[in-house]
Amino acid sequence: QTIFLKDYAAFGWRIEDVHLTFHLSGGATRVVSRIHFAPNPDAPEQAFFLHGEQLKLIRASIDGNAVSPELSEQGLTCDVPSGPFLWESEVEIAPDSNTALEGLYMSGGMYCTQCEAEGFRKITYYPDRPDVMAVFTVRVEGDMPVLLSNGNLKGNGDGWAEWHDPWPKPAYLFALVAGDLVNFPGAFKTMSGKDVALNIWVRPGDEGKCAFGMEALIASMKWDEEVYGREYDLEIFNIVAVDDFNMGAMENKGLNVFNSSCVLASPETSTDSNFERIEAIIAHEYFHNWTGNRITCRDWFQLCLKEGLTVFRDGQFTSDVRSAPVKRIEDVIQLRARQFPEDQGPLAHPVRPESFQEINNFYTATIYEKGAEVIGMLKTLVGDDAYAKAVDLYFDRHDGDAATIEDWLKVFEDSTGRDLTQFKRWYAQAGTPFVTVEEAWEDGTFTLTLRQHTPPSPGQDVKKPYVIPVAVGLIGPNGNEVLETQILELADAEQSFDFSGLAARPVASVLRGFSAPVVLTHDVDRAFLLAHDSDPFNRWEASRGLARDCLLAMIRDGAAPDAAWLDGLEKVLRDDTLDPAYRALMLEAPSAAEMAQVLHENGVIPDPQAIWDAMDTLAQAMADRWAGFLPELAEQTKVTAAYKPDAEQAGKRFLGGAVLALTRRLDGGAAALAQFETADNMTLQLVALGNLLRAGVGDAALSAFYGQWKDDRLVMDKWFGLQVSASAPKDAIDRAEALVQHEAFDWQNPNRFRAVFGALSMHHAAFHHVSGRAYALLTDWLIKLDDKNPQTTARMCSAFQTWRRYDADRQTLIEAQLQRIMAKPNLSPDTNEMVSRILAS
Ligand code: ARG
Ligand code: ZN
Repeated sequence: QTIFLKDYAAFGWRIEDVHLTFHLSGGATRVVSRIHFAPNPDAPEQAFFLHGEQLKLIRASIDGNAVSPELSEQGLTCDVPSGPFLWESEVEIAPDSNTALEGLYMSGGMYCTQCEAEGFRKITYYPDRPDVMAVFTVRVEGDMPVLLSNGNLKGNGDGWAEWHDPWPKPAYLFALVAGDLVNFPGAFKTMSGKDVALNIWVRPGDEGKCAFGMEALIASMKWDEEVYGREYDLEIFNIVAVDDFNMGAMENKGLNVFNSSCVLASPETSTDSNFERIEAIIAHEYFHNWTGNRITCRDWFQLCLKEGLTVFRDGQFTSDVRSAPVKRIEDVIQLRARQFPEDQGPLAHPVRPESFQEINNFYTATIYEKGAEVIGMLKTLVGDDAYAKAVDLYFDRHDGDAATIEDWLKVFEDSTGRDLTQFKRWYAQAGTPFVTVEEAWEDGTFTLTLRQHTPPSPGQDVKKPYVIPVAVGLIGPNGNEVLETQILELADAEQSFDFSGLAARPVASVLRGFSAPVVLTHDVDRAFLLAHDSDPFNRWEASRGLARDCLLAMIRDGAAPDAAWLDGLEKVLRDDTLDPAYRALMLEAPSAAEMAQVLHENGVIPDPQAIWDAMDTLAQAMADRWAGFLPELAEQTKVTAAYKPDAEQAGKRFLGGAVLALTRRLDGGAAALAQFETADNMTLQLVALGNLLRAGVGDAALSAFYGQWKDDRLVMDKWFGLQVSASAPKDAIDRAEALVQHEAFDWQNPNRFRAVFGALSMHHAAFHHVSGRAYALLTDWLIKLDDKNPQTTARMCSAFQTWRRYDADRQTLIEAQLQRIMAKPNLSPDTNEMVSRILAS
């Protein structure tokens, strides 16, 4: 069943208050609700429909009189009075057989909930739509020591607790957690002097992994006050770690629930990137308190209103507390790896979709990451001050609202006077724009001609031009900046921009800071930009472009690695005034998937094995060429101080890892072994293990690692994933086949499932192995998982989204697997939607 944005209609009823009582029991939890409804004067009609799925209705009444509503798979309808009334119901649910991890379910012996997007309807009958906001009072009864819900604690005793959330909220922000939990406490004083109690709740034994998350939470609270003027609004803020979770984390009001992999951290068990990610996700969920909770979405088509903005805000936070250029480069790498393939394939959809079948399938890189890019462009176009004013107006005007993209754009129009009609196409049109640059030079005038073109996407054959902010700087022949960064607004299909009064023809640095999410084609002296660009992003991009060209020439024309580029790169690597993390990013090759995309753009059908071979040859050439230099570089990456997960130390270890990856090609893994044996933190240990595996000498270390960490679920996820990701293509499939038979392979745990199958589908040459074995293996397990957990199954189907790029044989193999999924009896609507869209291309 497809739902359309254009069909939006307000619900016929407002809710004055909600009282819920939970009598917890694994097999038969009773949920009693008391809800005061009143007619909504803004609604077209007063039809009374409550969502409800997989509920056993025990009783229902209106104003104290029993009623017999009409029940369906989706919910209930009932004759109701024309004026205000009290609705009461009691339902029974079975959390311990809820394997979909949506609604109320059990994870490791504790009760927890996940209601976004439409999980609340699996808890009780309710208008489960984000534009129905209400004040909740929740009583939890159960023989568990810790009983949590949203808002402030009103009272508790043996076997019960009562919570009241004074802020009206939609049902998707409801949460309940109960279990044998321990808390890691903290405290925060808000800018107006209010005390907030902070807690991270974990299972006993995990208390030692909470300190970093707590610091990150406090830093986020402070940052949102200082940068956005946003203060926290309850007496308490709770975070809970759960092991079984479909996504990263959830911003439930006052009670954020986290996938344990996104909050628990310790130096011994977590890598530097884990720490950085945890910090960002804690910030993200916290920032949702204003962008998502206080101002929520009118309907799920507006998902990017909260997600794009909140990703943008967490990115600003990370840039502030770490390195802004490094963060930007990492984001663009991710955008190209995850969002571009989506935007250029069968799953392409606008940042604000116009229709969907299953909203859970739209928690995508497009909504989140492209959604954040759109906000970044808006900020670039209006400027920092105007952005700040507009956002203040947004908070003033819409606090307490369920808002839309129109509301968001209107505050910018009202506060800047700018017409954003054309800009709005970024929300409405899918697909990555392609921008080409042409240069001309005459009589001291330099002209840039920019053209944009966006290919068709499913359901959108013709695209209109976007407003694209293109940041440009000009560099003189001796390397100095002759024109500082300016924002060119490309709004037509083709536009020219003149720069006059120049003494000599400059070199143009275009799309600085990656000022728009586009694919840029610009025939420019990249080696010159690599040496001289003052914009750190474009300096990196110059090298990345040279790397792509080099690999393209190697794959397509059998060329040798580009010695001139490697010379230029070496100069950068030798510059020890540059941040080690930045140099490590310079050294990192484009991913195989990115190369497949580049080949495709150049009209070459990508051969995954050929990409693998070329990347191997290139890395070996780097290692051989820098045999004398690598030990010197390695020396600079040594950290003598006690482990800290901050940007400075992490950057050194990142560069150290890149150096080790080359060194193991020269010493057969000797340095990696030494590092493995002496490592006192997971970053060094895991990098060493990966390199031992890649050198083909990792089996002893692998079992030592298993012996050391077999009782730590999060570290075991790494053990599972690394064996696949650090193996040669065919070996990776063999490993995956063996791992799914391992006694510790708990396939119903999403983290463990993704550890193996995420690694397999991201190992480009293994996944696309000519035998088709990886396609078949993934499909076997997707079919198995679909009965238990449709959401995670559906998400993982996107591994097949680029299938039309490959040769006819591979397409035939993939199509057969997709058909096999479609033929599965009782295929979930989630998976059905994903596979149908992929097959339709
Ligand atoms: N709002 C959450 C976040 O951005 C994501 C929750 C998504 N859940 C889902 N079932 N689709 O952190
Ligand atoms: Zn979010």
